[in-house]
Amino acid sequence: MHDPIGIFDSGIGGTSIWNEIHKLLPSEDTIYLADSKNAPYGSKSKEQILEFSIKNTEFLLQKNCKIIVVACNTATTNAIDYLRANYKVPFIGIEPAIKPAALHTKTKKVGVLATKGTLSSSLFHSTSKMFADGIEVFEQEGTGLVELIETGKIGSEVTRNLLVKYVNPMLQKGMDCLVLGCTHYPYLIPVLKEILPAYINIIDSGEAVARQTKAILSKNGLNAPSTHISEHLFYSNADTGVLENFVQGPAVKVSYQDF
Ligand code: DGL
Repeated sequence: MHDPIGIFDSGIGGTSIWNEIHKLLPSEDTIYLADSKNAPYGSKSKEQILEFSIKNTEFLLQKNCKIIVVACNTATTNAIDYLRANYKVPFIGIEPAIKPAALHTKTKKVGVLATKGTLSSSLFHSTSKMFADGIEVFEQEGTGLVELIETGKIGSEVTRNLLVKYVNPMLQKGMDCLVLGCTHYPYLIPVLKEILPAYINIIDSGEAVARQTKAILSKNGLNAPSTHISEHLFYSNADTGVLENFVQGPAVKVSYQDF
């Protein structure tokens, strides 16, 4: 294994980011941590989110990760400043995509579906303020959605009903862009497309995170050789079966690890 890209999330959500990274950087080895034992992060205190983020970072550093992707909006918005200040490797974070939504919206009304931890963070508020000048931003906590995704209930009636409850008020207020501010939520896009009118633009940051990871690797001369056949290790500290449903492939290995 070459020095890998380390990626962590509170669970399986960050695999939506892993997919984008692997698509763009197929020669890079990766190590992914699903801290499912502690999910959801979104309802935890800032101190707890920071503690989990430090634990995940140290685990990945012990595995020689050359860069760490915090594939979790909640961990990014609550912990990335601390991580950047205290560890030497580069960190890539993910935040709700307010900027592209502000550029796309015609009604000047944007909905953001994210966790309580993200929506209450000061980083989210400063980003919103910076990019959403003249735009109305409706914030909606996605309480319960992460648990449903973590337990394999994406296509269930309960998930659908909860999504209808969350998006309808924002629709009635005129939003035309919906920002998915949690890396678990891209897995809800098929259900969202069924319940939302076709003119709604659903925006997430996965591709942008992969592009940024590529740029930072290149800038620091950290890329694996393009001929390298990559390997991908996934660790979960809860039921590995859930993770196995989201990541498959010959070079993928999913294991249980208590971290
Ligand atoms: N996937 C996460 C995020 O992007 C975490 C959600 C949670 O654990 O509450 O915010």
